[in-house]
Amino acid sequence: MPSVEGVPARQAALQILDGVLRRGQTIDGAAQQIRGLRPPDHALAVAIAGETMRRLPDLDAAIDSATRQRLPDDSKARMVLRLALAQKVGLGTPEHALVATALPLVDGGPRRLVHGVLGTLLRKGLPAMDAPHLPEAVEARWRQAWGDDVVAAARRQIATRPALDLTFADNGEARAYDGVSLAPNHSRVGSSAVTELAGFGEGRWWVQDLAASLPARLIPESARQVLDLCAAPGGKTMQLAAAGHSVTAIDSSKNRLVRLKDNLDRTHLAADLITADALTWNPKRMFDAILLDAPCSATGTFRRHPEVLHRARPPIIAASADMQARLLKRAAQWLNPGGILVYSVCSLEPQEGEEIVRAFLAVHSEFAIDPVGEGDAPDFVTSSPEGWVRILPGLLEAEGGLDGFFMARLVRKG
Ligand SMILES: C[S@@+](CC[C@H](N)C(=O)[O-])C[C@H]1O[C@@H](n2cnc3c(N)ncnc32)[C@H](O)[C@@H]1O
Repeated sequence: MPSVEGVPARQAALQILDGVLRRGQTIDGAAQQIRGLRPPDHALAVAIAGETMRRLPDLDAAIDSATRQRLPDDSKARMVLRLALAQKVGLGTPEHALVATALPLVDGGPRRLVHGVLGTLLRKGLPAMDAPHLPEAVEARWRQAWGDDVVAAARRQIATRPALDLTFADNGEARAYDGVSLAPNHSRVGSSAVTELAGFGEGRWWVQDLAASLPARLIPESARQVLDLCAAPGGKTMQLAAAGHSVTAIDSSKNRLVRLKDNLDRTHLAADLITADALTWNPKRMFDAILLDAPCSATGTFRRHPEVLHRARPPIIAASADMQARLLKRAAQWLNPGGILVYSVCSLEPQEGEEIVRAFLAVHSEFAIDPVGEGDAPDFVTSSPEGWVRILPGLLEAEGGLDGFFMARLVRKG
């Protein structure tokens, strides 16, 4: 068959989906392994894979409605159908183009099958999929933890790519920037190429979801020596440095610390950087405040990374929770009396948030919750009766929403 324009991008999308669904990779991780594509084709492949992952259960339901026998989950025919239909629903690709670029991806019998199923579905029309189902297990978990309204909000939010949030070192610059400022030092802009936005080269801002900017805001101004544990790529390190703290930033990943260093250089900010595993590292000093933004399942970032909902299965969440409990226990040893420890995760799983802090306080009577109150955080943030902050889908929805997050501020009693 002669080569059809647009097929290499679909071939690459298929490879990315395979990496995500069969090998547990992230979309970005799988995309990095693809070589030799023109940048627009690479971007299109990533976009197709993203749109597919946003609506996977609904795409599968549509495919199943048009086949007599259920296609195996990892069959090439199902993979090709998923990405073809995702282009129709998510990217508005014309039908002739999505058929012409899907068929060369499969041979023989499967090609006839794909052609037939696409024909049937396109003729009868696809459902809207503007509030698609999340994976069944995730919906069940979140319904139990947060209720129906949150699941409904999450469905609406997964359908579209969120806007870009920028954090500025200088609040005056944030307010003057061409965007919507929802908090001090923040501006929200339409999604576009980051490097093309004004002020990138000068390092006036960095990209950081508004929810991700909240934990560093809970560190008291008076804290001089601040430890940023699990710091890379450094959104929170930059906030802390910009706020005038003397920051020590640790991360176990050398590569990610290189990114942190690049970020600090670009924004003309400074911190002491240490590559170390926080589970074995021992500091030479004590700190006035510690920010532990722990590694987690990252299910709160599903708007930007829809694949996290398919990867974060219960054993992964349990392993994360175990790591978080161990990191928190270590961090607690390095705080001066009266010092503040902020614990945060970009997860929507209580197991990685509320349950970690409850279990920690049950055995660390020298710590107490320092409730997040008015004036500690932007107005839209309200604390729970326990005093911690839980950011759920649905918050600020009219303004474009936020990532899901948990944060608690703990004080070491004097
Ligand atoms: C949620 S990310 C941190 C994001 C960062 N705070 C920011 O705002 O840009 C978690 C980080 O923890 C690091 N990490 C995981 N296990 C660690 C450990 N045992 N010691 C130190 N860092 C660790 C990972 O390399 C990763 O960079």
